Amino acid sequence: MNLSPINLFAYEQLAKEHLSQMVFDYYSSGAWDEITLQDNRAAFARVKLRPKMLVDVSEVNLNTKVLGEYLRLPLLIAPMAFQCLAHPEGEIATALAAENAGVGMVLSTLANKSLEEVATVANGLQWFQLYIHKDQGLTRALVERAYRAGYKAICLTVDAPVLGKRERDQLNQFTLPAGLQLGNFTHISGLEIPQEQGESGLLTYFSQQINPAVTWKDLQWLQSISPLPVVVKGILRPEDAVLAVEYGAQAIVVSNHGGRQLDGAIASLEALAPIVAAVNGRAEVLLDGGIRRGTDILKALALGAKAVLIGRPVLWGLAVAGKTGVSHIISLLEDELKVAMALSGCPTLEDIDSSIAY
Ligand code: GLV
Repeated sequence: MNLSPINLFAYEQLAKEHLSQMVFDYYSSGAWDEITLQDNRAAFARVKLRPKMLVDVSEVNLNTKVLGEYLRLPLLIAPMAFQCLAHPEGEIATALAAENAGVGMVLSTLANKSLEEVATVANGLQWFQLYIHKDQGLTRALVERAYRAGYKAICLTVDAPVLGKRERDQLNQFTLPAGLQLGNFTHISGLEIPQEQGESGLLTYFSQQINPAVTWKDLQWLQSISPLPVVVKGILRPEDAVLAVEYGAQAIVVSNHGGRQLDGAIASLEALAPIVAAVNGRAEVLLDGGIRRGTDILKALALGAKAVLIGRPVLWGLAVAGKTGVSHIISLLEDELKVAMALSGCPTLEDIDSSIAY
């Protein structure tokens, strides 16, 4: 591939030139002072590696399984709303790149393309990210549609009973440009991102449509209506991870929503090891937040993650070159992970244990 960006940071710089200020700010911003956003990255710098020497690493194998499904490398694309703001093909391009690379993709409730369209064009491992709306019938219908379309899990986001305050979105009065819709709700009138004076339209959508009263009981309800396994995304406390397991979650994503919800919340990498210990093998534990390098993936796996999710870099890839850009982002991370594993004496993912990082 003759694309020039050398790493994920270079993609971000380039993407800035392709996106309007409103879109770049929406994708890149965190809540309030963006302390958690920055700390997600800083946490990776705080973890040190202890490489093993004189191990045969002539073959490095990245293959794994998540919830029983094969992945060519331990990577999924995090759920992210409104991908057509980055590229006209939006979630379709992302899904095709994920399928080609053998990584998973989590489609957002707030995608611009419908869940059926994405599942029809791409055949990789796909999960559906769910926001529980105040309208219970609508929420139930989304779960049924995801099941019928072939998604393999429902990924319930639990860290957004209300939307975090992203001040750049407020200043920009963030909304969807004419012609872009909520792909999953085109048949429902009134379900759209409003144009709002002095506020982010997405924040208003949340306060109008998303149910802030959701509790663990609703996780039980979701399990009862979902033929698919439920993944709980947005856990930061070991106590909550244990509750999620007790309420039947089959996997947990340790996440602070990319620093976009509660500013000051612990970095996801820092939250990981105590959660892995508390879960004690009863569910798979994944992580997102701040992954930009192969060494970041190595560190997360060493601290107990089964796989990681990447978010914003995929949007930068999309903005720069659509599906080709997303493919390149994934292959950059894959190459870096391979080198990092070779240099730490870990030819397979099973070799990456807690002795590698501290
Ligand atoms: C939507 O879920 C967002 O975090 O912007």
